Amino acid sequence: MAPVQIANVTKSYGAISVMNGVSLDIAEGDFVILVGPSGCGKSTLLRMIAGLESISGGTIAIGGRRVNDVAPKDRDIAMVFQSYALYPHKTVAQNMGFALKLAGRPQAEIEAKVKAAGDILALGPLMDRYPKQLSGGQRQRVAMGRAIVREPEVFLFDEPLSNLDAKLRVQMRTEIKALHQRLKTTTIYVTHDQIEAMTMADRIVVMNGGRIEQAGRPLDLYDRPANLFVAGFLGSPPMNFLNGRIEGDAFRANGGTILRLTPDLAKAAGGRELVAGIRPEHVVLANGEGHLTGTVIVDEPTGAETQIALRIGSDEILANFRERVPVRAGDKLSIQLPSDKIHLFDKSTGQRLALGDTQ
Ligand SMILES: Nc1ncnc2c1ncn2[C@@H]1O[C@H](COP(=O)(O)OP(=O)(O)O)[C@@H](O)[C@H]1O
Ligand SMILES: [Mg+2]
Repeated sequence: MAPVQIANVTKSYGAISVMNGVSLDIAEGDFVILVGPSGCGKSTLLRMIAGLESISGGTIAIGGRRVNDVAPKDRDIAMVFQSYALYPHKTVAQNMGFALKLAGRPQAEIEAKVKAAGDILALGPLMDRYPKQLSGGQRQRVAMGRAIVREPEVFLFDEPLSNLDAKLRVQMRTEIKALHQRLKTTTIYVTHDQIEAMTMADRIVVMNGGRIEQAGRPLDLYDRPANLFVAGFLGSPPMNFLNGRIEGDAFRANGGTILRLTPDLAKAAGGRELVAGIRPEHVVLANGEGHLTGTVIVDEPTGAETQIALRIGSDEILANFRERVPVRAGDKLSIQLPSDKIHLFDKSTGQRLALGDTQ
């Protein structure tokens, strides 16, 4: 276990800058997930921590030691990639023990460590098989076993579950989380999948365009996204956004929808152009007068939930109800948008309005 400090790190490929002063403190034993759209710089940052990419500016420290110029093998890290790259002509046990063999460790020690890692990962019965005799999930586990036997200070994972089918991905998520709870090794994990990030991480770091948009505990980011990017990135189906302005105590969307706001929220907003956000699961079914009534465009029952897209004036709102709602396209439906669930962002900066914590 070791803390990892990233201070003002930049990266350029020739004249192209892909990382613009990233700073991040990772406490020892933390499970941190770097999440963001493809191309935002997640792998580049992870590879700089691993020592597989040079650092153009700033400092990276592992366990309090500056490692900018330390070779990957001397950084006390182990990395698991999306492609497991197992040796095809070595057995599971030989694959797992190979790094220790290269390091010249005694055979007895290698066998003990490989067996211990195999037990943790339930690979015991597969130790003498070759990679081609394993399923995708089993290969994934061997790749993790190879990292575990090295007993590193830090685990680095780069999209390790991307090659697995949906069901196995969910299972491996649980396994990796359980593994971390058991070993408590500092872990930095990269994914583009926000559900993976939300469910596994102690802390999420949302990246975009070579910068950190926001870092914090998953539910804190979900409940109080710092800006439009994070608000739109976390959550599925995504948050609804309406452009508009404040009129009196209410928000008037350009499409005509009126949202009642808490008074201090309305006051803080002033006269600027705004974006109001509300998550689909916060839309409430309503009956009768004084509520918003729209026309159903699409209804999508999934069994547990019902997703309904509604047109209200020229605005469109997606709702996700935890109940059956027996409506069809063309029907009328009344909803309520609770004022304490509305997020307001400054349209020009994209930043959440600072309100003295009214939400
Ligand atoms: N060797 C390279 N040369 C030039 N640009 C690169 C190189 N590797 C990555 N990039 C660029 O750096 C950015 C970040 O890439 P990457 O870290 O792989 O993103 P992510 O892992 O978030 O999908 C991308 O715009 C990518 O095109
Ligand atoms: Mg990547």
